Amino acid sequence: MTVAAPTFAATDLSPEWRRLELLARHLAAERQGQPVPQTFLEELAALQKVVLGLRQGPLWQDLLAPEWDALAADVLACVLAPEAEPRLGWLYQQLQAGTAQPYPSPALIQELLALDAGETARLRHLLAEDGPLRRAGLILGEGGDPFQPLRPGADLMARLLGRSCTPAFPPGAVRVPLRASWAELVLPADRLAALQEFLYWIRHREVVVEQWGGRELGGPVALFTGPSGTGKTFAAAVLASDLGWPLYRVDLGGLVSKYVGETEKNLNRLFDAAHGREMILLFDEADALFAKRGEVKEARDRYANMEVSHLLARIEAHRGPVILTSNLRQHLDPAFTRRFQVVVDFPRPDAGARAELWRRALPPRAPLSDEVDPDFLGRAVSLTGGAIRNAALHAAYLAAAGGRPLGLRELALAVWRELGKDGREVGRADLGRLGDWLREGLA
Ligand SMILES: Nc1ncnc2c1ncn2[C@@H]1O[C@H](COP(=O)(O)OP(=O)(O)OP(=O)(O)O)[C@@H](O)[C@H]1O
Ligand SMILES: [Mg+2]
Repeated sequence: MTVAAPTFAATDLSPEWRRLELLARHLAAERQGQPVPQTFLEELAALQKVVLGLRQGPLWQDLLAPEWDALAADVLACVLAPEAEPRLGWLYQQLQAGTAQPYPSPALIQELLALDAGETARLRHLLAEDGPLRRAGLILGEGGDPFQPLRPGADLMARLLGRSCTPAFPPGAVRVPLRASWAELVLPADRLAALQEFLYWIRHREVVVEQWGGRELGGPVALFTGPSGTGKTFAAAVLASDLGWPLYRVDLGGLVSKYVGETEKNLNRLFDAAHGREMILLFDEADALFAKRGEVKEARDRYANMEVSHLLARIEAHRGPVILTSNLRQHLDPAFTRRFQVVVDFPRPDAGARAELWRRALPPRAPLSDEVDPDFLGRAVSLTGGAIRNAALHAAYLAAAGGRPLGLRELALAVWRELGKDGREVGRADLGRLGDWLREGLA
């Protein structure tokens, strides 16, 4: 008797679970020395056919990288099964005597799929600490121990089961935990407006693209330029907080590997993991991306150049907000800046902006001496927002340690230290009128 293969919608994964259940029941029977039922192989073959068909569908194809072993889908299905069908979790548990959880170990997967020696070696590679499934964040678990359980990553659950969960880190990116509000951000009004407009690209895509037929571009991509400490990262945090989305910083240096060809893989992993997720990706020191074309000297540079233009194209193609930051506006080729939806230049703050920054940076409940006036501080020394934040906090610690209110003496010393951080000689005159409060003998 042959079992006819029923047809399934490409999004219905039930044949996957039925096949695994069959394999698990068979393994349990086999372990007890029970005879294999006649129909088992036929039933399995029929399901196998359906499953292979499903795996050609978009659900699986979007998930699996082309260079992965065909075994990868089997492994992912095995690990996801207890989440999809609790009865499989219980079956797994029975098959792994003594475990208190429903997830399969590599050893169980090996037995379940009846892998031969070659396939087992490939399984080990897939599941290694630096193997493809771990690096993509699809599978979680302890080291390479064959008896430790493997759990599905949040992304795997989200993409195959449609369960939204808190996203795992995209590989190569770290979460910026900063939360910040518009009220804390000090920038000229036109820059604030440009930042707001970046949010329009995210919030109103539906109207412009779906309803009005506007052209679908990737991104949106914003470029933030300006000196260090002028609030580029801070503004990115304000945007992310406004959306209620997490902000992830990507380490470009780590991404652009010195091994030719690795960059491609790193990029794929990153963008695959970020695909369709509600998050902002922040690429700091993006200057490396804008190396002018034609400036190729050696073969190595040529590779670097190739990767760089590809990298930029890949960033643009990603559908989701990306922010690039750079310290060097003047070096940027207009051919590049025109490619971004929003470009915001972060200026050094003027005296008025510095007064605002001082107001926000001084701890709100710190006991301040009467002479402390943010307008005076703003006029006295030209500092960036980052330097003002550091100096304000340092002054607060000086006051706390001295058991005194926070006064101009503490602020003068803190600013003097801040200016001296880059190693240059700082004189009393560099502190403007605040220099009068710097204690004798320092400068
Ligand atoms: N314009 C600003 N408005 C409000 N706070 C600011 C501003 N600029 C700087 N700050 C404060 O200084 C801190 C450091 O700034 P931030 O890290 O955003 O600078 P950046 O421009 O990203 O510098 P870098 O180029 O070195 O990365 C911020 O966390 C914030 O507290
Ligand atoms: Mg920054």
